[in-house]
Amino acid sequence: MIGPLVEARASALQSAHSQRRQVNDNCAAEARAGVPRVATSIFNRYGGFANVSKIVMEFYDLVLDSEIAGDYFVDVDMPTLVDHQTKFIASIMGGPASYSNEALERIHAHLDITKEAFDEIVSLLRMTLEDFELDPADVDQVIDGIRARERYIVNA
Ligand code: HEM
Repeated sequence: MIGPLVEARASALQSAHSQRRQVNDNCAAEARAGVPRVATSIFNRYGGFANVSKIVMEFYDLVLDSEIAGDYFVDVDMPTLVDHQTKFIASIMGGPASYSNEALERIHAHLDITKEAFDEIVSLLRMTLEDFELDPADVDQVIDGIRARERYIVNA
């Protein structure tokens, strides 16, 4: 007999899978419609805030499970952080919201973030974007955008 927990897990996995397909389909639909890659931001091509939040949710699951970076987030109100990270990643992807370098520096100043933890977060984000099957060039662009802010975040 399949227990309720197993069923819940199976349905969560199925839903994650269909979300990934949806993110990817948004891009494919635009490609079919002949929308040139340069004419629209990465953010718009992957379906705007609705889909970026799904990417952020998966990213945060990985971050919380991480032995290197997880502890930094233990006491943080996750819904608030996910909301902020969604806006941040959206801005790196060329969407509407944005954080200044000064704001990032201020937010992280008290956290003693090591280079190792920063690299871990960047590599978990890369893994997530690849899992959602973003175009490799788009993955590189998002990661480069975050790496460019390293000096405002690493402070230990
Ligand atoms: C990869 C580049 C990163 C970016 C772009 C980034 C961006 C942000 C943003 C936008 C917030 C929202 C703060 C707010 O308005 O409430 C935030 C909060 C936070 N970030 Fe980062 N972050 C990055 C890396 C890291 C790393 C590497 C760590 C730790 C390993 C970290 C730990 C935190 C924590 C703990 C908070 C919550 C701070 C608090 O509520 O006091 N971040 N980050």
